[in-house]
Formats: sequence, structure tokens, C-alpha cells
Amino acid sequence: MNILNILTKDDFELISKTHWNLTSYHTSMNVKDLDGLPSKRELLSLINGGFQKNDWVPSIPVNINASKIDESQSVSQHYNITPNQLQSYYSQGYSLCFGDMSNAIPQIKSLKTSATELFKYPDLIVITGYLSPPNAIGVLHFDRQHNIFIQKEGVKKWTIALEPAVQSPFDNLVYTGMTESFFNDMSKAGYNIKSPSQCGKQEIILEPGDILYLPPGYYHVPETLDEPSLHYTLTIEPQSFWKEKNSQLFNLLLMNCEALNQDLRFMENPDLEDHLQRCNEIFSKEILSKS
Ligand SMILES: [Fe+2]
Repeated sequence: MNILNILTKDDFELISKTHWNLTSYHTSMNVKDLDGLPSKRELLSLINGGFQKNDWVPSIPVNINASKIDESQSVSQHYNITPNQLQSYYSQGYSLCFGDMSNAIPQIKSLKTSATELFKYPDLIVITGYLSPPNAIGVLHFDRQHNIFIQKEGVKKWTIALEPAVQSPFDNLVYTGMTESFFNDMSKAGYNIKSPSQCGKQEIILEPGDILYLPPGYYHVPETLDEPSLHYTLTIEPQSFWKEKNSQLFNLLLMNCEALNQDLRFMENPDLEDHLQRCNEIFSKEILSKS
């Protein structure tokens, strides 16, 4: 599966020159079966392993999580579930998230290879899958990465913001269950996050073959309509200045300030407390002078 079967060159031009980092982009290619990407039946058979024609194929290694919004609107999540738990969670209304499959499934590997030609930096690209039962609702959140949603089967309604909560967030944020004080503390630290009501919203329906690009920092929440839905997400981590400089910055800090590297073992109060306070002061000063 080549990414150019999903995004035309014109789509890619538009996304990379006009929408990248800025605004969402929705396109319908009418590639109704997205040939080459596993259907839900094929995906489950790959994940479970078993006979394919005359060969017993082993199950592919993939990390699987299950999540749903329960009656009290809180998020229920289970991590690292096993293939034999999938049916049970799915039947209870959980959406199943299959972690990066770009090394495990050849068709997805070729999608990633072709995506890398467009977006560069293979280490910053992952392809995940989401299988959700009818009427499942996801969690309101934003990601720090770019997302390209590829609807394979079923129909999904996405409610997405019209503008970002944060232009280039340093981390993902699950809004559901967040407290007011968290946003106040972040704001005091200079990191202002808009609430969903300040960002506006629009609804986008993704049918099989449809694609949605969403920049970092945009709130989004999915709702599966009345058939099971399978979509793949091409997630592209930003290649930022800080990402590149992170390890250098860490080494610079340790090289320039011996105190930061001092062994804390056997140090007792008040020396320990004084030392930690000094380290915090050095750290803050160094960070500010490097930013
Ligand atoms: Fe997301």
C-alpha cells in the first residue's frame, strides 16, 4: 500500500504547503476498500495467528489497549491486553487500539516506507489501528503529533476544533477529567491551553476511503456510527528544534554544573534539601539562558 494511493500528489501539496501545523484537511478519495490495508477480519486474523491457506501463521507482536467512556463519563482504560481478551472487551463497548504495526504487517510497512518519502524521519512515524463497536464514543483530547486518519471500514463522526488549544503542544492532553487547577498551574508556568469551548468545533464524517489531516494541538473526539469502525492513523511526531537539541542540552547542563551530577546517596537533611534547591536554581537558570 503506497501512501499516494490514499493521498494524491495534489492533496500532499495542499497539506504540506497550506495546512501543515495550521488547519485540518478532509478529503474523500472514494477508494472504498483501501485495497492493501487489512480489513477488520484480516487484522484480527493477523493478530490472533492461525491458518492462512496451508500455513500456520504466528500472531504478530502488537501492543493493544482498550478504552471506553463509561456511564459516569469517566474514561475506563486497560493496557496491554492479550488477543484472547479482545472479543470480551469489544463486546463490552470498548474501542481497541492496536499500537504501531509498521514493522509487523508488510502492507502497513510499505505504507510507512512511502510515507517516509514524503514526511522524512522514519523514527517519527507510526501507524496504529482503532477498532470500535457501534456507537462507541472516544475521549476528548489533543495530541502533540500530526494525525492522518484513514477510514478503512464503517463510518466515524469526528468532532474537531476549529483552532488549536495550543499551537505546538509539547505533550498530549486528555481533556475529559482534567481539573481547573491543572489549567491554572499550566498558565502560571506560561503554557496557556484554551478550553474546547474557546476553540470552536465542526463535525466531519469519515466514510471508507476518507482521509482527515489534523494538526497538533487540535481537540478531537470520535464517535462511531451504527456499524463497527476500523481506521488507521498515520501519526507523525514533529521534528522540532528541542527534540534535536534535547540530549545535547542535557549533556551541557551536566558538563557545566558539577553540582547537578553529585551523588545524593547518603546525603541527609538539611544538606540534601539545600543541595536540591541549589540544583533547581541552576537548572532553571541554565534552561532560561539556553532558551
Ligand atoms: Fe488523537
